[in-house]
Amino acid sequence: MPTILPFTPTYATVDLSALTHNLTQLRRLLSPGCEIMAVVKANAYGHGAIEVSRALIAQGIGRVAVVSIDEGIALRAAGIAVPIVILGPLFSNQIGDLIAHRLTPIISDRSLLPALAQATASLATPYPIHLKVETGMGRLGLATDQLLALIDSGHVPPSLKIEGLLTHFADSDGLTTEQTEHQLTLFQTTVSGLAARGRSIPLIHTANSGAAVRYPRSHYSLIRPGIMLYGYHTLPASVPAPDLKPVLSLQSTVAQIRAIQAGGTISYNATFVAKRPTRVAVLPIGYADGFNRRLSNRGAVLIHGRRANVIGTVCMDMVMIDVTDIHETTVGDDVVLIGRQGADRITAADLAEWTGTIPYETLCAIGVRVPRRYREMPDPVSAPS
Ligand SMILES: Cc1ncc(COP(=O)(O)O)c(C=O)c1O
Repeated sequence: MPTILPFTPTYATVDLSALTHNLTQLRRLLSPGCEIMAVVKANAYGHGAIEVSRALIAQGIGRVAVVSIDEGIALRAAGIAVPIVILGPLFSNQIGDLIAHRLTPIISDRSLLPALAQATASLATPYPIHLKVETGMGRLGLATDQLLALIDSGHVPPSLKIEGLLTHFADSDGLTTEQTEHQLTLFQTTVSGLAARGRSIPLIHTANSGAAVRYPRSHYSLIRPGIMLYGYHTLPASVPAPDLKPVLSLQSTVAQIRAIQAGGTISYNATFVAKRPTRVAVLPIGYADGFNRRLSNRGAVLIHGRRANVIGTVCMDMVMIDVTDIHETTVGDDVVLIGRQGADRITAADLAEWTGTIPYETLCAIGVRVPRRYREMPDPVSAPS
């Protein structure tokens, strides 16, 4: 029986067939022997980590990455059984939870090794860890010489298995390639140094979405895409991007219509002053839902397939728009804030541009009180051919 969802005036729709489409595009780029570890941190960039992980695993994805132990535990609680790599830092008082939930840590310095050694000493098989090399992001990781010295020192206990080696690029979507090339060279020095010591590491991974497209030599055994799975990229215009489909759309509903005279004002601090008699529609979505306050008197939404401008300051829970020229607008009308309506479309990249940020932030900011509705993939058996 189909699930009957309660009416919610503001909601996001997550199109899982668009997610699968983007996955297919990424798979086409893969170098031989390379697989995808899907990055589903930050609630899968706002799309819902559990549902996105399930959908990707159904498509053959065998490994996901989140940032924190809490995010990993939430996936385990939902029955996600594939290996989960924790991209963020690990703290000594999280080691019990890490092991209890079979989460794979990334080790970025040697200080945690004694505690990890102790916690894993009695396990039947060595516990997998990944080692991170810092090559230019200036964030987590060991420098190449520190990492090789660690291996030489014999301080990685036998109860730990170095399953993975990684680095992270700072500028894979940059205008020039120098920094990424330099990072790749440093990383390759580490890989070669380990090989020279007879260490063969099964999972070597460096590429985020941008690098996956732009630097095939960064592929190694896994790529770690996030943003492109969700249908966006930040590559420069000179780099051909895959054909991606935005996965998430954001909708709301007209809650009230009011008419104001020329000179009338809208919202906090009266930043909008009507220059003409104006019809105003009130929408129940605000900055607490991720509709950024920088959209005040800036940006637009779609109603009846046409653009209606945001007027006045965006409130925490509501925003007002000018529907003077969209005469047919009434209470209950559908409004699209991200997505397509009629022949027009507003993307998270548009909202990002209007607010001076990147689509990553726009998507991640969509608030917890916005319900996500999942548009399932068509059933391969019953789908019309
Ligand atoms: C360590 C790491 N790997 C991979 C990714 C995925 O990057 P992107 O979303 O650009 O593909 C991120 C995201 O920021 C990350 O922090």
